[in-house]
Amino acid sequence: MEKLVIEGGRPLAGTVRISGSKNAALPLLFAALAVDGPVTFTNVPRLRDIHTTLKLLEILGCTTAFDQGTVRVDTVGLTPEAPYDLVKTMRASVLCLGPLLARLGEARVALPGGCAIGARPVDLHLKALEAMGAVFELEDGYIRGTCQGRLRGAHIPFDFPTVGGTENLLMAAALAEGETLLVNAAREPEVVDLANFLAACGAKISGQGTSIIRVEGVERLAGCAYRIMPDRIEAGTFLCAAAITDGELLLEDCPLGELEAVASKLREMGVWIEETAGGVLCRRGTELVGVNVTTLPFPGFPTDMQAQIMALMCLAKGTGVVKETIFENRFMHVPELGRMGARISLDGRTAVVRGVAGLTGAPVMASDLRASASLVLAGLAARGTTHVQRIYHLDRGYERIENKLGAVGAVIRRERE
Ligand code: EPZ
Repeated sequence: MEKLVIEGGRPLAGTVRISGSKNAALPLLFAALAVDGPVTFTNVPRLRDIHTTLKLLEILGCTTAFDQGTVRVDTVGLTPEAPYDLVKTMRASVLCLGPLLARLGEARVALPGGCAIGARPVDLHLKALEAMGAVFELEDGYIRGTCQGRLRGAHIPFDFPTVGGTENLLMAAALAEGETLLVNAAREPEVVDLANFLAACGAKISGQGTSIIRVEGVERLAGCAYRIMPDRIEAGTFLCAAAITDGELLLEDCPLGELEAVASKLREMGVWIEETAGGVLCRRGTELVGVNVTTLPFPGFPTDMQAQIMALMCLAKGTGVVKETIFENRFMHVPELGRMGARISLDGRTAVVRGVAGLTGAPVMASDLRASASLVLAGLAARGTTHVQRIYHLDRGYERIENKLGAVGAVIRRERE
């Protein structure tokens, strides 16, 4: 396994280019399964989860190629089975259910286990697909779905605005017979990116980005070329990096319009953020003060930025309260930040963060993707050396983060543990 070794206390300065969005790229790659003909994606980030997805697409019968940020997928000979040894490493594999059922009338996907941040069931996906005529059985840890003929359009109210559930149903509804109405749909920008891609392939979709999405099924989707949106969570992470190191960064291709809740909270803390012609400029501004953050579905504060802003709050003046409402166990970074001198107390899904004058470097353990990012941010600001271990978690969602950070002044290197 590998770790990142960080010598903290250096303000970052320079320009960072934001990569394509992991959470847009994954559903888009699975959406290629619903398309009859070759598809080309550009601005694809080089991430572990992307490679895992391409491997899974190949097992499902696709041909794939990935070169210099461009991915080509052709679904020449689709087969319906997604094996456990791949699915267990990436929960997003469940996103092949919708397109396989729509295209083949059959899908056999290993039931994704839980993960560090929560049980993360897929009951809302299955219930919605059943409303469209799919029938599911659970056999040997696999979900086996079938439907007689085409999926049928349906009126589908989601109990919760599930991102993955909305994405699965968009891909299923695009090829279903008749009209589908998704009510209480997720409004995340990555869902909008998926809907826009499907529309570019000939799907008839309206309302993406709102809670009510209408889809008129078509017979066939034709391949096209599509550029993946920039990663708003990576961008938010680098906004925090500029602030926590008291440096100044210019972020190129930064989707500030999709980071309103994050930018507003950072500004409330005293961070200075300005959109310029060359990108988004960010620096600490005044002394940082603690704020209260509650994670919510988009356009609320994103749960994927909770760990990162908490690292920043550790060094703010005063106290801040963080409420995590999306996942049941997304505070794994808290004890690790505590090892670096942070003062955080937990009560269920609420964390009270009392600002301290400084953090000290220590060996810490990454547990999930965004917790890892939080520990890197803390290490950049801490006095001394921080070893962030098990950074395979980090590689799932950040494209060689040590290269990007090193290029703007961080002293950071990857080592074998
Ligand atoms: C997506 O996960 C993202 N992953 C997550 O990002 C992100 O944290 C999450 O949306 C929320 O924004 C990708 O896009 C690949 P959900 P997803 O379905 O689709 C419960 C990261 O760090 N739920 O909106 O799994 C679920 O347990 C990752 O990049 C059900 O109960 O999120 C969770 O508590 C982490 N039943 C909540 O809803 C279901 O059928 C949100 O889940 C589905 C979800």
